[in-house]
Amino acid sequence: MSDKAIGIGLIGLGTVGGGVGKLLTEQANLFAQRLGRPVELRRVLVRTQDLAAAKASKLVPAALLTDDAEDFFKQDTAIVVELAGGVNPMRQFVSRALESGRHVVTANKSLLAKHGPELFALARKHNVSIAFEASCAGGIPIIYTLQFSLLSNRVHGLYGILNGTCNYILTQMTRHNQPYDTALDAAQKLGYAEADPTLDVSGADAAQKLSILASLAFGTRIVGEQVPCEGIDKLELADIGFGKEMGYDVKLLGIAERGDDGKVSVGVRPCFLRADDLLADVTGPFNAISVLSDALGHSLYYGAGAGRMPTASAVVSDILNIASGWYPQAFAQLRLTPDLHEPAALLPAEQLVSRFYLRVNAMDLPGTMAQVTTALAEHEISISAVMQHERNEGQHVPVVVITHEVAQGDLNAAMAKIAGLDCIAGRPVVIRIVDLPH
Ligand code: NDP
Ligand code: HSE
Repeated sequence: MSDKAIGIGLIGLGTVGGGVGKLLTEQANLFAQRLGRPVELRRVLVRTQDLAAAKASKLVPAALLTDDAEDFFKQDTAIVVELAGGVNPMRQFVSRALESGRHVVTANKSLLAKHGPELFALARKHNVSIAFEASCAGGIPIIYTLQFSLLSNRVHGLYGILNGTCNYILTQMTRHNQPYDTALDAAQKLGYAEADPTLDVSGADAAQKLSILASLAFGTRIVGEQVPCEGIDKLELADIGFGKEMGYDVKLLGIAERGDDGKVSVGVRPCFLRADDLLADVTGPFNAISVLSDALGHSLYYGAGAGRMPTASAVVSDILNIASGWYPQAFAQLRLTPDLHEPAALLPAEQLVSRFYLRVNAMDLPGTMAQVTTALAEHEISISAVMQHERNEGQHVPVVVITHEVAQGDLNAAMAKIAGLDCIAGRPVVIRIVDLPH
């Protein structure tokens, strides 16, 4: 074994940073044995106001802690691990690490979804690498899978439960009848949620992850802002219940699909899945990603998508893979990251073809259903199932319609017409239905 240790600098000692500090300390011997040389945490940069608490936490030896960035960058470190989160000042810290010839490990999907191509190019320029497994789906090795294990495949679809907080909240609501606010509060206390949980529930966090995954899956360049997203915060219990009656479970899905013409469709929204779909069984803070590719077919990746130790697992593996030397070589040689690719040709949202669940509040009188189905027929929308419970004549009642495959633009036009009918009250609800192969 070589005596020459690999020096690590860590920025941020919060949920994930604390887990990384703990794992590096507790498993130091195992990692040294596997690598053939020790991995040594040499400095941990925290904010001034957190210094005393960080010392008291004993997550890492107090002597390693600093609140001085100059002191942090003065140390002899080969890898900087960025676990503070957010775009600024982490863009500057990561750039400085790369420019000084250090590899970077980060879990920061916000930073990569916005500035990934620029930072990957900067790493290339300075002959170092960026490893980012923990940025998508926490501890699940989905980035390595797309980059290395599926190198022999062309991927044409990716369907992911990418936000642990949302999946935890939906599970608590649908399986344990817990109110939304109580479930969100618990997700925050358990360390799943982002510092600003609106990033989770609005779908923005999943959209950032999807932009990273879709860029890798399709060998293209997509930034987070290009991914349309709808969160779980407007989802109504009524629709979860009607969906269940019709054999569907709701999940917040990030979906990326590439057509034969090379056009890419991306989006995050609550979707109905058949209750017997494997993704429908993914509960709690777990994440899962179904990947459709030409040679392998359908493959599914499942595991803990958030939380201290599962995320630390991915970060520390990144550190070890860099330290071993194979990852920097693969980063340099393989043309995988979005800095090397053209911007994606995105499919306009109205051209997306899918099945949909619709719910309207319709007056329970003769002729109402005819008006709704006429509006759908005018846009060539074919109905697969209709459900109305027998009740409330002369009052508004929920009517649920399941369509066959239809272009979203046609559906939007039909729904605008339906929303304007005198017999319809309130906002119609539209939820995509996703049919995945078994
Ligand atoms: P936390 O908020 O728990 O921890 C971040 C820590 O970094 C905080 O202690 C924060 O201090 C500190 N920090 C912020 N800015 C600076 C700075 N300029 N200098 C030094 N320290 C700083 O976040 P998480 O650990 O949950 O997340 C870290 C990263 O990992 C994020 O990018 C997140 O998206 C990602 N991630 C998180 C997962 C999870 O399950 N939590 C899973 C996968 C990825 P302060 O408290 O004072 O703000
Ligand atoms: N807040 C994120 C989630 C953490 O809930 O999935 C993992 O990126």
